[in-house]
Amino acid sequence: MTLLPTIKQLLSMEAVGQSVTVRGWVRTKRETKQAVFLEVNDGSCLSNIQCVLDSFLRQNQSTNESILRLSTGASVEIIGELVPSPAKGQRVEVKCQQLKLIGEAPPERYPLQKKAHSLEFLREIAHLRVRTNTFAAVARVRNRMAFAIHQFFQERGFYYIHTPIITTSDAEGAGAMFQVTSLDLEALSKSGTPIDYEKDFFGKKAFLTVSGQLNVETYCQALSRVYTFGPTFRAENSNTTRHLAEFWMIEPEMAFAHLDDNIALATEFIQYLVAIALQDCAEDIAFFDQRIQPGLRESLERIVKTSFTRMSYTEAIRELEDSNAVFEFKPYWGCDLQSEHEKFLTEKVAGGPVVVTDYPKEIKAFYMKQNEDGKTVAAMDVLVPRFGEIIGGSEREWRLDLLEKRMEELGLAKEPYQWYLDLRRYGSTPHSGFGLGFERLLLYITGMTNIRDVIPFPRAPRQADF
Ligand code: 4AD
Ligand code: MG
Repeated sequence: MTLLPTIKQLLSMEAVGQSVTVRGWVRTKRETKQAVFLEVNDGSCLSNIQCVLDSFLRQNQSTNESILRLSTGASVEIIGELVPSPAKGQRVEVKCQQLKLIGEAPPERYPLQKKAHSLEFLREIAHLRVRTNTFAAVARVRNRMAFAIHQFFQERGFYYIHTPIITTSDAEGAGAMFQVTSLDLEALSKSGTPIDYEKDFFGKKAFLTVSGQLNVETYCQALSRVYTFGPTFRAENSNTTRHLAEFWMIEPEMAFAHLDDNIALATEFIQYLVAIALQDCAEDIAFFDQRIQPGLRESLERIVKTSFTRMSYTEAIRELEDSNAVFEFKPYWGCDLQSEHEKFLTEKVAGGPVVVTDYPKEIKAFYMKQNEDGKTVAAMDVLVPRFGEIIGGSEREWRLDLLEKRMEELGLAKEPYQWYLDLRRYGSTPHSGFGLGFERLLLYITGMTNIRDVIPFPRAPRQADF
């Protein structure tokens, strides 16, 4: 099968009157005495192609009927000639010879009319919102970034590992997990029988994973450089514009690597992705810059060129304490950085991304490498203006005795983690990695403000329709 050129391809062709076929959805119909002008979009790019129907075509009764029934949202097939466009704003247009109305979209019922709809309204119709410029642009950037992520790692000798979705361990120790079961909970509850997980599918309690890290570490200890990129799930009841219950995470892991190597990789990674977005999604970024987040493109261009500010957690707390800013949560050494603190550090202190290192061990996961001071761990979070944390990572505790001691302090049962401890028993290496939240990256690159608008079908508290 040979695929017909997309509108994106047609728009970049030299127009010499060649015969072309356009298939897509009508964005607008405009009628004058001489002609009907259709703006047609097929999602291949932001731009529409203009198709011009001379009025003599209306002498054909069925064509005329089609034109009458055509409205915003209808799907069409148009055969015509690709010619230079006399009008401003486009190089080429299609001089229509044949028009086929394929699927109508009756204006009295079709919800997406020409007027701009609010993002809130569009969230209610997630199955149709991708037909708008904004959501189609997000989808295209999301696609390009997913591919660029693989390119980045593949070019650097990292292997892509598929880590499991179902797990019995809580990697982050945060306890906010969705349980997976094949037990008939309703029947059990009705009969008053206590739940026996021995009888459950896996013979024990199981969950959807919050992170692929622990599993990917095993492959790291054999393939040296690895990454996982898949969906992760968190049942934290955070109804914010930065949290999803189901989000995608990219987690690289490097053997023989320390915190500095990790920071260098994270920085290069973000800069690489932003540079590709600017280059390959230029039309969509220009749209976001104009319509969603003024100044976006310039700020992205700056990211590519400027190195990220680095400061320790202790320095960050000092900056916050010494500032005159009023925070809802008063900062103190030992507190978890709140999004308002992260915004302050990036927007007011650094004027760009900040890498914060060496957090107190109490507020970080059990697997992080413990520093000499006995108080902090070799953690690193990358924070960005507008919403704060985009990456969380660390050097891992690779010394068996120290890891076991930390697990004991935290009251973690060691038995389920024997496989993880084995990595420290046999051929252990210093190693490091991080997790980039894919949707947070997309918020950053598109300038969208609500994370529910950068994933096709958001999962959040009380939201799992479509
Ligand atoms: O900081 P987190 O919890 O780190 C981990 O899960 C580590 N295991 C990663 C690693 O070292 N391999 O999560 C990593 C990133 C965050 O920085 C954030 O960008 C994103 O995942 N994230 C979320 N994104 C959307 N919704 C949520 N509920 C998120 N929770 C974390
Ligand atoms: Mg984190």
